[in-house]
Amino acid sequence: KSSKLWGDEGRFSCGLNSDLSQLNNSLQVDKRLYREDICGSLAYAEVLCDAEIISSDEFKTIKEGLNIVLDDWNSHKIQLRDNDEDIHSVNERRLIEIVGDVGRKLHTGRSRNDQVVLDMKLWMKKSVIEIVEDIKCLIKVFIRKAEDKIKVIMPGYTHLQRAQPVRFSHWLLAHGFFLESDCDRLKQLLERVDVMPLGSGALAGNPFKINRDKLAKLLGFSKITNNSMNAVSDRDFVGNLMKNVSDLIFLNTNIFQVEFNFIATLISTHLSRLSEDLILFNTKEFNFIKLSGEFATGSSLMPQKFNPDCLELVRGLTGGILGQLTNILVTLKGLPFTYNKDLQSDKQSMFFVFDNIKLSLKVISGVVESMEILDENCWNALSYDMLATDVAYYLVRKGVAFRDAHHSASKLVDYASQHCIELCKLPLPVMKTINEKFIDDVHDIWSFTKSVEQYQATGGTSMESVRNQIAYLKDYVERG
Ligand code: ARG
Repeated sequence: KSSKLWGDEGRFSCGLNSDLSQLNNSLQVDKRLYREDICGSLAYAEVLCDAEIISSDEFKTIKEGLNIVLDDWNSHKIQLRDNDEDIHSVNERRLIEIVGDVGRKLHTGRSRNDQVVLDMKLWMKKSVIEIVEDIKCLIKVFIRKAEDKIKVIMPGYTHLQRAQPVRFSHWLLAHGFFLESDCDRLKQLLERVDVMPLGSGALAGNPFKINRDKLAKLLGFSKITNNSMNAVSDRDFVGNLMKNVSDLIFLNTNIFQVEFNFIATLISTHLSRLSEDLILFNTKEFNFIKLSGEFATGSSLMPQKFNPDCLELVRGLTGGILGQLTNILVTLKGLPFTYNKDLQSDKQSMFFVFDNIKLSLKVISGVVESMEILDENCWNALSYDMLATDVAYYLVRKGVAFRDAHHSASKLVDYASQHCIELCKLPLPVMKTINEKFIDDVHDIWSFTKSVEQYQATGGTSMESVRNQIAYLKDYVERG
């Protein structure tokens, strides 16, 4: 009997060209899906039995056989052969070796096309949840640091120019809120992955009256995909988007993967921006933080070096992850419906993205957890020119229109710089010549703590507002 799923006799009797065989073989990548593939087969055997395609005894035999295949994998005893093209072929070949001819019935009405999408979706469901948990862990690290360092004030930047004083915690939580949105995106993605494709066959469906709802239930999905051919010819989807999104997931199997790669790219971009800030803050020029030795590396030539490679690696990976988003989009662009072998490389990209996002999240958690915040340096970096906005606000509180107040404050800044005086040291008479509304109480402006405390509105940098942000994120990560 044929040793390939699709035969090696007749027109295939010359054998597959060995270079093509190498190109065609995806086993080293997709063997990672062995559990999902076996789960799918167990459920499929059950509905085949319900549909009386196999008998109860045959179902029992297949089930036992599949469990042995699973043990083989789990105990690393599985032996791979040259003819095993992918995870589906190896599992079926091994099943037949164990249970004999009855194993040859398992693939009835099923195609590797619906099988592979099922495996990927099963894998993605659990993996997305893992990433959500990793992100939550990172947010918790941010929360702990933010609570601990809530009193520290440092310069906030726009254009990388000193802008206004902010709490260190406010800056850190700003990065945390990006991750909160990423978590939400992943949860939304889960809803779309949660649509069960098995029972779609190669493209036309399943002719054996299998119960797809039961299949979905057995495999833990809450929905099943709709008819595929209908979806391709349907152009009504502008008014009926959701239904057709599900159809597309089956047909154009990789929509969920595009979304996964997109969200991963965003997560990676967010981690990269944080890395960039941390790299700057860790320089001697800024000196706001000090990385732990566990996350720094040295130079083979310059003995004094203490490099933030960890952050550079995370920042660098973003390019590779974005590359995978491009990869899948370019693969899909112009791909005729339905399955084409171009799609086989999707798993490599899915695993690459998943593994590296996970690693990046863990490394960043470790870096932030272990870094030292140099409170004094943060405070010392503040300068009074950063309170020029507060001067304008002072005038506003005295009834001056903001545009005029801004103009007067700007004149003060010019005067102070022309006369090499610190903004806070300008004599009141000079200030009065610029705007008569300045009176004795102007001195109250020159406090960084007071400055940050005025930002009481939700989202601002005052102590209370930052505490509320912490409470919000705590609730978010605990809500599940
Ligand atoms: N290994 C294939 C993949 O990952 C499985 C689907 C094969 N389907 C086929 N018609 N050749 O895409």
